[in-house]
Amino acid sequence: TTSAQANPSYACNNSPDLCNRSYANVTHLGAHDSPFIRDQSTGDSLSGNQHLNTTLQLQSGVRLLTAQVHRYDNALSLCHTSCDLFNAGTLSTWLTEIKRWIEHNPYEVVTVLLVNSDNAAAKDLHAEFGRANITGYAYTPPSAGTALSVWPSLNNMISNGTRLVTFVTNLDSSAQAVAPYLLDEFTYIFENPYEVSSLTNFTCSPDRPSSVRSQTSAAIESGRLPLMNHILYDVQSLLGASIPDIDNITTTNAPSKVVGSLGAAADDCKKEYGKNPTFVLVDFFDQGPAIETVDRMNGITAVGRINTAQAAEKAKISQTNSAKGKQRGYGVVGLVFGLSTALMIGWS
Ligand SMILES: *[C@@H]1O[C@H](CO)[C@@H](O)[C@H](O)[C@H]1NC(C)=O
Ligand SMILES: *[C@@H]1O[C@H](CO)[C@@H](O)[C@H](O)[C@H]1NC(C)=O
Ligand SMILES: *[C@@H]1O[C@H](CO)[C@@H](O)[C@H](O)[C@H]1NC(C)=O
Ligand SMILES: *[C@@H]1O[C@H](CO)[C@@H](O)[C@H](O)[C@H]1NC(C)=O
Ligand SMILES: *[C@@H]1O[C@H](CO)[C@@H](O)[C@H](O)[C@H]1NC(C)=O
Ligand SMILES: *[C@@H]1O[C@H](CO)[C@@H](O)[C@H](O)[C@H]1NC(C)=O
Ligand SMILES: *[C@@H]1O[C@H](CO)[C@@H](O)[C@H](O)[C@H]1NC(C)=O
Repeated sequence: TTSAQANPSYACNNSPDLCNRSYANVTHLGAHDSPFIRDQSTGDSLSGNQHLNTTLQLQSGVRLLTAQVHRYDNALSLCHTSCDLFNAGTLSTWLTEIKRWIEHNPYEVVTVLLVNSDNAAAKDLHAEFGRANITGYAYTPPSAGTALSVWPSLNNMISNGTRLVTFVTNLDSSAQAVAPYLLDEFTYIFENPYEVSSLTNFTCSPDRPSSVRSQTSAAIESGRLPLMNHILYDVQSLLGASIPDIDNITTTNAPSKVVGSLGAAADDCKKEYGKNPTFVLVDFFDQGPAIETVDRMNGITAVGRINTAQAAEKAKISQTNSAKGKQRGYGVVGLVFGLSTALMIGWS
């Protein structure tokens, strides 16, 4: 019944208050480059954007996972810039990890955003989703190919069992026929700029798609969901290499209102858009902690998630180490990673 929906006995995305709220009107915390981990297993790779793996991200309240997909060895792999540099395994293996979590958490709605770096065909992406046996959870909008004026509530998606929303860049038009749950990102979403390298340079102004660039009202009126990038790159570090600026991460992800903080930027964007951003995308989500700003936007006190100290404990990383990173101990391997990352093109 309606009243049961409005006051459920369970939490949706970590709060009963979110169950009856439209998917579009929930702010979802995003882990930028979710599978690219900077920890011992990757030699603290400078190409890593997160300290904690995808499962720990989800357990900690992250609900948007982004990744780059590349063609490699007749498969689709998750690679940072190049598969020779950083290969986090196949798309289907990662989707299997996500599926396992979704299966065990029946009241959670998760969003995946794939940067389709090598323009993989919809049928090839679909095959990877099939291998992960995750398509049964995929949400398909009633009318494909246009921004939705009204998104369903989390509860609607949960009761239908369609709790995975998937956006893809560079999606070919066959998707609507072969895999209608694969949604062209910029039909449904607009983003502010992502290449920011100064704490004073964050802006909420739409950047992509170009049809709404610098036109906030047009972007909002188009029905696209606002995705707020809040990522700081360190361009000075190595010959202009774009690597995450981990030195300033405690400021970048801070809930406080200091210049360059997530808390301040989220308020700015809310004001500019006339509503909360639907997605907030950060590096090293455990720092800040970024989720504090997202909970504030949603107006909730979360239940059923682990906090960042518990997540760090599970991953056996010291929070102090994770805050400082290992970025000063480059060594030869780090230097090669850093220099190669300088070749980074497109969305990272
Ligand atoms: C929330 O529930 C109320 C009734 O309790 C209903 O009128 C409203 O449409 C619901 N909102 C959403 C987003 O489902
Ligand atoms: C695929 O996943 C569904 C649940 O979504 C499950 O019922 C089914 O057994 C799975 N199939 C295989 C082959 O694992
Ligand atoms: C749920 O499933 C029904 C029946 O297939 C469909 O009419 C409805 O649009 C679905 N709702 C959502 C939110 O997907
Ligand atoms: C900050 O933005 C200004 C104005 O767009 C630009 O001129 C400047 O180069 C940017 N600074 C950095 C460090 O990117
Ligand atoms: C990042 O922090 C360092 C050290 O505190 C500082 O020198 C640098 O200017 C900061 N970078 C930005 C982009 O603010
Ligand atoms: C959207 O969510 C906010 C809380 O973050 C709430 O105050 C507002 O009423 C919601 N708007 C709609 C249209 O549901
Ligand atoms: C995620 O990290 C935790 C802590 O290091 C580890 O126990 C777990 O096996 C990892 N999960 C996956 C799927 O890699």
